[in-house]
Amino acid sequence: MNKFVALAVVSALFITFVPVRVSAEFEEDILAVEFAAEDEKFIASLPAAKGKYKSRQRPLLIQGAMNSEIGLWVRALKNPVVYRHLNYVYIAGTYKNYPVVVSRTEEFIPNAAASTALALTNFNPVAVINQGTAGGYVETLVLGDIVIGARSINMSALRTTYQPKGTGIDVTQSELLGSFAYDKDLGKFRIYEDFSADPTLLRLAEKISGFNALTGTIGTSDGWNSSVDYMGFLNEKYGVVCEEMETASAAQICHGSGVPFIGIRVISNNITNGSAYQPQSAEYAQRFTMILAENYIRNVLKK
Ligand code: 5AD
Repeated sequence: MNKFVALAVVSALFITFVPVRVSAEFEEDILAVEFAAEDEKFIASLPAAKGKYKSRQRPLLIQGAMNSEIGLWVRALKNPVVYRHLNYVYIAGTYKNYPVVVSRTEEFIPNAAASTALALTNFNPVAVINQGTAGGYVETLVLGDIVIGARSINMSALRTTYQPKGTGIDVTQSELLGSFAYDKDLGKFRIYEDFSADPTLLRLAEKISGFNALTGTIGTSDGWNSSVDYMGFLNEKYGVVCEEMETASAAQICHGSGVPFIGIRVISNNITNGSAYQPQSAEYAQRFTMILAENYIRNVLKK
């Protein structure tokens, strides 16, 4: 048996016997990436910006984690140009004759924090709207419904109570630790239980009609929870109505710098009523935040 045949046999055995781990999260990602193939091409076709960002007015920053969550927003911009800071993409242009930067934060907490911090230092936004998809925690939320994030909470940081060896694992015996974040007024870092939305953005969001919208707490974690009982626990104890992976992280950075912030999410999956993930639902969060942005520009920023 020559070397190549031996290698082929070993590879075949490896492929056959080593289990491939595909997490549920990964499957949802594949769907979202497939759905947004055209958006990715469109963003890749945009011209790169020349030099540093300059704007007479401080721009409004719109965030979404994936191409599927920013595609419509990017297409709505006039004269879009692309900036890159570290590994994060920002598309700057105008919307309703006002400067807007659309940021692809990438998924998960660290990316949301890093891309938000870079956005604050490079674009000096006047306010930040974080939007995208989420999984519902309450049965009444159906796909396409909007959650207006009056608050967002970090669900990744938790402390479990002492459970002696052999007594099993009970996640309901845990307490969320909150977020260790900078308090601009105190001038130091402290624990936040949650982050409140900017009251003006919240009020404007709650005035929008034509959507089935619920005001509540958005839960953020580096995870994808499929335990309906744990969802019920987080809903009862902390008022969480949906889960996702970026809002509280971006909120923390904005709070630390005194930049008005709101998170808006569309329900794209809801295990509590048996609704599987649908990437196209991302459209509703974008349509909703376009109205919010327009009203904010007209009633607050241009006044
Ligand atoms: N759990 C966690 N993240 C979710 N997202 C949508 N639904 C969920 C869910 N049930 C969002 C996250 C992340 C990507 C996986 O989609 O914010 O960006």
